[in-house]
Amino acid sequence: MPKAYIAGTGSCLPETVLTNRDMEVMVDTTDEWIVTRTGIKERRICPRGMASSDLGQLACRKALEDASADPSEIEFIISATVSPDMFFPSTACLIQSKLGIRNIPVFDLSAACSGFIYALETARNFIECGSYRTGLVVANECMSRLTDYKDRGTCVLLGDGAGAAVVRSTEGEAGLMGSYISADGNYREILNAPAGGSYMPASFETVENRCHFMKMEGAALFKIAIMSMSEAVNKLLESHGLKKDDITLLIPHQANLRIIQGVARNLRIKEGKFYINIEKYGNMSAACVPVALDESNRKGILGKGDLLMTVSFGGGLTWGANLIKWTKDRK
Ligand code: COA
Repeated sequence: MPKAYIAGTGSCLPETVLTNRDMEVMVDTTDEWIVTRTGIKERRICPRGMASSDLGQLACRKALEDASADPSEIEFIISATVSPDMFFPSTACLIQSKLGIRNIPVFDLSAACSGFIYALETARNFIECGSYRTGLVVANECMSRLTDYKDRGTCVLLGDGAGAAVVRSTEGEAGLMGSYISADGNYREILNAPAGGSYMPASFETVENRCHFMKMEGAALFKIAIMSMSEAVNKLLESHGLKKDDITLLIPHQANLRIIQGVARNLRIKEGKFYINIEKYGNMSAACVPVALDESNRKGILGKGDLLMTVSFGGGLTWGANLIKWTKDRK
């Protein structure tokens, strides 16, 4: 049976920076509150005229370059996003067209902040079943387009970005070793963007009542986030007969520094083993994990044989983790 591995990574962060000082002018908040309650110092904002697919496409190009792969080798594309350019066509179709690729299966995957983890697991199964040899998994998010810049409880948290990975098949050792993914739709009210779909179609009222923006019950989510991410790590370790010490690096979703610290405490894993970049980008939904993965790859933090675990949670609620053996040489 063929196995799957990550052959290259890429990311795209828009140049425009929105700092905590900028936020102080927009809502009743302070740099001190944001840093102490969340760990975030600044976030990136996608410029007008650009959308989710543009960020995704640029991240894919970098991942292709890192994998020394040509777009013509790509046999499928999965785009994880909750901020698609439009309902349809899928963002994956738009990315495919921008990359100049034709006649392959491409689709969007909606699992909010856990989207990349779900998509990587889907790609692993595509490859292991022997139907495909090379694919692109990309998470592209323009969360600023779903953000209510009058709601201080959410607007300080979110940012834009994209991260991608080229996944290939091998007859050798598995890079993508397995995943744990789960969801519970009973928590759907805790984190959502209620309007614009078939349930609450766009109308004058939905716009006036700001129903197209992301809504969140922060305190409830905070506790569930720590529990669900800890559960995902434990279950995935257990199913592979591994110990916490076997893991070289944990790449967590970057929703709040205090959530990452809570997970570290809960799991009794040193905070230093977690890759943290939340101060620069805030919460970019599904893009957090692949952007952190790409940074770890490019900074030479990852070396051949390292065992990584990604872990995330998000709207749905969804949560999950991937176990990855790094097969590339250290940069
Ligand atoms: N600046 C200043 N004060 C703010 C603020 C801001 N940006 N946002 C909220 N506050 C206020 C609240 O209004 C509240 O005031 P009150 O006590 O007068 O009502 C106070 O700060 C404390 O609010 P609380 O919600 O208890 O703060 P918190 O310590 O829980 O932090 C979050 C709030 C949102 C940072 C935190 O709950 C969180 O990170 N939750 C999870 C978010 C998450 O994971 N989201 C994405 C999931 S993918």
